[in-house]
Amino acid sequence: MEEDYVFKVVVIGDSGVGKTQLLGRFTRDEFHLDSKSTIGIEFQTRTVAIMPSRRRVKAQIWDTAGQERYRAVTSAYYRGALGAMLVYDVTRRATFQHVARWVAELRAHADKSIVVVLVGNKADLAALPGRREVEVEEAGAFAEEQGLFFFEASALSGDNVEAAFMGLLGEIY
Ligand code: GTP
Repeated sequence: MEEDYVFKVVVIGDSGVGKTQLLGRFTRDEFHLDSKSTIGIEFQTRTVAIMPSRRRVKAQIWDTAGQERYRAVTSAYYRGALGAMLVYDVTRRATFQHVARWVAELRAHADKSIVVVLVGNKADLAALPGRREVEVEEAGAFAEEQGLFFFEASALSGDNVEAAFMGLLGEIY
């Protein structure tokens, strides 16, 4: 079926936080524990209906490497992006500490009006004793201060993946 709009969304964040798996969960309902680091840039699409208008939006979601040495030209990656999903891993504090750097990169290269959702991924692991390194309250407070939407999610279980992407697409719309 024909779509009414195409929205470009970029997924960013440190290497290994689960960007590729979040994308795979949203576009194909798939998850792989043995996923390899992304090299270069890839994109996948999924067409969804935005309520209540039921307009069809094709989300064109771009995934790139979190590792610096594999990163392609930044400005080209962000060009035309209406939304960004900024991902950290709730079991690795360093990935949350780098979120401010990713926000700075967004502010430098993306459109001023870009909608950003912060996602604390691997929430399934945070349920295990001693694994959580970032509290919901802390990340939520940071997101509020920066004007970002915020969800904890799990690409593995699928929890909140739909909510995070659909929230982002709905807000762009
Ligand atoms: P780069 O391509 O290097 O930037 O990494 P990435 O952010 O795309 O991470 P990727 O999706 O490749 O996931 C890294 C590892 O974390 C893989 O082994 C995934 O299976 C695992 N992983 C991703 N999401 C989750 C999750 O929600 N829960 C658990 N337990 N593991 C996850």
